[in-house]
Amino acid sequence: MNEFNALESKNLTIIIHTNGTEIPSIIYWGKKINNSIFDSNLSLAIKRPIPQAFLDEDVKVSLLPEEGRGFYGNPGLKGVSCRKSWTTQFQLQDMKFDSQNCNIKCIDKTASLELLINLQLDYETGVLQISNSIKNIGSNEYDLHDFAVTLPVDRSSNELLSFKGRWIHEFTTERINWNFGSYVRENRKGRTSHDNIPYLVVGNKGFSESKGELYGFHFAWSGNNRLNASVLSDGSKIVQFSELLLPGEIVLGKNETYHTPKLYAAYSSEGLNVMSNSFHTFLRNSDEFIKFKRKDRLVHFNTWEAVYFDHTAKTLNDLVDKASDLGIERFILDDGWFNGRNGEKAGLGDWYVDKNKYPQGLNPLINYVQTKGMEFGIWFEPEMVNSDSDLFRNHPDWVLQVSGYKQPLGRYQYVIDLSNNEAFNYIFERVDCILEEYEIGYVKWDMNRDLCQPGNNCGIVSVHSQVKYFYRLLKLLNKKHPDIEFESCASGGGRADFEVLKYTNRIWTSDCNDPLERHLIQKGFSYFLPQEIMGAHFGPSPAHTTMRESSLQFRILTSMIGHLGFEQNVLTLSDNERKQLKEYIKLYKKYRNLIHNGDFFRLDTDDTNLNAYGVVSKDKNEAVLWICQLVLPEFQIPEKVRIPYLNNNVEYIVNVLDKPENMSFNMKKTTDWLAKNIELTGEILEKIGIQLPVMDPESIILIHFVAN
Ligand code: GLA
Repeated sequence: MNEFNALESKNLTIIIHTNGTEIPSIIYWGKKINNSIFDSNLSLAIKRPIPQAFLDEDVKVSLLPEEGRGFYGNPGLKGVSCRKSWTTQFQLQDMKFDSQNCNIKCIDKTASLELLINLQLDYETGVLQISNSIKNIGSNEYDLHDFAVTLPVDRSSNELLSFKGRWIHEFTTERINWNFGSYVRENRKGRTSHDNIPYLVVGNKGFSESKGELYGFHFAWSGNNRLNASVLSDGSKIVQFSELLLPGEIVLGKNETYHTPKLYAAYSSEGLNVMSNSFHTFLRNSDEFIKFKRKDRLVHFNTWEAVYFDHTAKTLNDLVDKASDLGIERFILDDGWFNGRNGEKAGLGDWYVDKNKYPQGLNPLINYVQTKGMEFGIWFEPEMVNSDSDLFRNHPDWVLQVSGYKQPLGRYQYVIDLSNNEAFNYIFERVDCILEEYEIGYVKWDMNRDLCQPGNNCGIVSVHSQVKYFYRLLKLLNKKHPDIEFESCASGGGRADFEVLKYTNRIWTSDCNDPLERHLIQKGFSYFLPQEIMGAHFGPSPAHTTMRESSLQFRILTSMIGHLGFEQNVLTLSDNERKQLKEYIKLYKKYRNLIHNGDFFRLDTDDTNLNAYGVVSKDKNEAVLWICQLVLPEFQIPEKVRIPYLNNNVEYIVNVLDKPENMSFNMKKTTDWLAKNIELTGEILEKIGIQLPVMDPESIILIHFVAN
């Protein structure tokens, strides 16, 4: 076994150090090292001193830091067997290595545990995947408490970009100084959650969209999780993610193994945009994530805000007419189509078409949608059951619960215990039956409550199993219906993670379609997730979730940053609005290939009220840029926008695709380029930039750049 082994991608190097029989550690993760000799000189160079009042041996941060070796931070593994084996000293047994993969096997004979650590570095994007597994090789049960994937980061990292949110306010961010102690986040909601999503960026103070050294982390798990980012007393800095296990949740019998979810991580020496692009490109390139099944991402119409539970044939047909006339390509029947579902209090679980609303089933509507040239999609919330439903009346024991305790309902519903075979089969059969019977191209898969008292019918905690069975359900349905596209929705963006993206093709970002709020939400989303899977719908003014009014231009251009759809009741549009939206949909279709396949970037702006984002094609010959003034500019004359992602020596035609129809009294004389195409080189656009006009709050200018 070599003392040093290097994982290498196109642009970076990770060096793994093996010290005798201890668990290896990462001693370097950063810019590519091209001319190095990893020999005993490097050993001497990195050897650490032993300070006074410390242990007499050096204790380094390994890939699984162990309390039993004198590690005083959060140990990688916590568990116990018959009150013993509560700590470990693993011995390295084997390490298989090539320049993109590393498999480490360690055994602790005293604790009767076998540990595997797997690292994979994607050559193209530099995205690192790491996961661990632990096997009980003894005969007593091992009660696992916590098993964290651990990665060290450079100790110069002293700022965190953390992610938070709530319903209708997802993916928001906060900067936090990271100088001492631990930053801990815990999600106990049983889904990826709105509030403690397992995303994190750590980097050198002041890292920005285009500058600074940083590491991004994304824990791919749709259940409970714990994040621990610690500054240790020896100055080391580590980031740990684990599945948050509830008491007694994982008890390993003889020869049983627990696998951690995967942690995905990316390093960037040039700010957040490079990190985002590494993740986006990785998701697009990897075969593990399911691909879009149509050539283009179809423009959606979703019935929720237009009709809520009030489904009548006349209104739905009228919506179909108007939607297709606008150029919409997929019509999605949201909540309200199944037995007893006339409001949120009843019906979930009874997945039979409601004959009162649809006397001849769904075919008349589906046929009509198809004659209008659109695809049909449908909403399900399969993991749930209302207390007022036949399913619950017949099988009250099928829900997650703790017997003897009263459980609070959430949106009047319980969560079905998917580890119960009968319940699982019932759900699969019901969804499958609808998908078999009708020509359905798309499923919006919803999940509208957090888990509470997640006990199975033996009274044992079942969050882990619930998540695994949820994946299994989707996997089976994907297999049986390979042409159907699935969307992950959980009261908006409550289930947005890389693991769910192995089974779904789109994320419903948020129930909020107020464009001002959407800028916060969509920007946060874009750090880890690509724009083509970001459901972004045009909604009414005032917005149903905020009552804020906004212009049609601001609403539609904001939705065009992602995968465009419509939530607004298209029957209530004026003729003029209809005309405008038709043109916008045409514009979107013209550029969607670029928007959905190019590299997304966010520009650094001086004005914190100005968001500017764009997408540039892989060959850099073309780009679109949204300049979004959210509230009034800070200064009387705004800044110049500079775009550092074009080809320096290429000349671009700068063409304004859209701007607000009227500008207020704010501006006496506008900038000339708004009315006349100009031609500038990539270098000028990067170094000098283009002067912005004085923009009104909540307005957008959309610009196109194309190589001349
Ligand atoms: C959730 C979703 C909405 C809608 C409703 C239907 O709130 O996020 O988009 O589908 O459920 O009940």
